[in-house]
Amino acid sequence: MSITARARPEILALRPYAAAVQVEDTIRLNANEAPWTSGADPHRRPLNRYPEIRPGRLRAALAERFGVPSRRLLVTRGSSEAIDMLIRAFCRAGVDSIVTVSPGFSMYRHYAAIQGAAVRSVASSPDADFIPDIDRLIDACDDNTRLVFLCSPNNPTGTSLTADFIRLVLEARRGRSAVVVDEAYIEFSARESVVGMLDDFDNLIVLRTLSKALAFAGARCGAVLARRPVVDMLDAIQAPYAMSTPVVERVEDALSERWLGEAANRVAEIVAERERVREALGCLPLVQRVWPSDANFLLVRFADVRSVMDATRQAGILLRYFGDDLADCVRISIGSPEENEALLSALGGLCQRSKD
Ligand SMILES: Cc1ncc(COP(=O)(O)O)c(C=O)c1O
Repeated sequence: MSITARARPEILALRPYAAAVQVEDTIRLNANEAPWTSGADPHRRPLNRYPEIRPGRLRAALAERFGVPSRRLLVTRGSSEAIDMLIRAFCRAGVDSIVTVSPGFSMYRHYAAIQGAAVRSVASSPDADFIPDIDRLIDACDDNTRLVFLCSPNNPTGTSLTADFIRLVLEARRGRSAVVVDEAYIEFSARESVVGMLDDFDNLIVLRTLSKALAFAGARCGAVLARRPVVDMLDAIQAPYAMSTPVVERVEDALSERWLGEAANRVAEIVAERERVREALGCLPLVQRVWPSDANFLLVRFADVRSVMDATRQAGILLRYFGDDLADCVRISIGSPEENEALLSALGGLCQRSKD
C-alpha cells in the first residue's frame, strides 16, 4: 500500500486537469492562444503558446541531476510550492497534524496554518547542536500525523541529521506518515542526499531547490522526489502550466555542463568562506558560540544581539534575527568574500567600541 493512502480521500480521487492537447507542427486552434508572437518575446519557445502542462525536458534534466528516474520527480515553483501542496494533499483541516523540529524552517508552520493543520513541534537543544531526540520526535507523532518534516541541513541552525536518524524515522512511521526530508542546502554539505532510500521507503519524500546552490532563487524552481503514487497525486493538484516558458528555458540553460560547473565552483567557494568566517567570528569577544554548519549560513550567539543588529544595520548589512528560542542568536548568510569582510569589519569595530 502506498503512503498516499494517508492523503485526503478527495485529493486521491482527483484526476489531472484536462488541458488542450499540444502537438508539434499542427495548426493550433484549440487553446484560444494568440496566433502571433510579440516583438518583446526573445524565447526559444514562443510565448503566445502555453508552455507544456509539465515541462518534459526540464523534468528529465532535473531527474538526472538529482539521481532519480523522471517518473519519481515533479518540477515545482521552488520547494515552497512543494511544501504547500504536500500539506494540502495530506492534511485534513482541523483534524490532521504535521510534526517538525524547532528551531526550524518557518514555512512548514505557515502552510500548515493556511490548511488548518496542527503543528507539533519537537524542541532541539543548542547543546546537542540542535539534533532532536529521536524518541521524542517519534513520540510526538500520533495517528493523525500525516507528515513529518525533517530539514537537513536545517535552516536556521545549519546542522544535519545522519542517514541513520532519517532511516529510523522512516521505519517508525512506515504506512502512517510521509517523512519529508527538505534538502534545500544539501549541496553545501559533505553528506549525501537520502534520495537513494526511495527504493526502500515509500513514505520518503525529498525536496530539492535551485534557489541556493544554483543561484536561481529568482526563477522559482525546485523538485519533489518521491515514489510514483506521491508524484502522480501532486501532479493532479499542481496548477496546469505551473512552470512558465521563461523559467523553463533559463533553468534548462542553468543545467548545462558549463553552468553546473560554475555553480559547483561557487559552492566550493562559499563552503571555504563559511569556514573562514566561522573561524574569524570565533575570535571576536562579542561572539559566544558559532555552531558548525553544513549550509550557506552560520548561526551565531552573541553577548549583545541588539548592538550587533544595530551596528550591522548602520553599516548597511542585513542579518536575520528570529527571537523566541533563538533570542541571543543571529543567522548570517555567507556572501561574497568582500561582503563577508564588510561584516567582519563592522563586528570588529563594534568589539573595539565596546572595549573603549
Ligand atoms: C529549508 C528550506 N526549504 C525550502 C526553502 C524554500 O526555497 P524555495 O522555495 O526558494 O525553493 C527554503 C528557503 O529559504 C529553505 O530554507
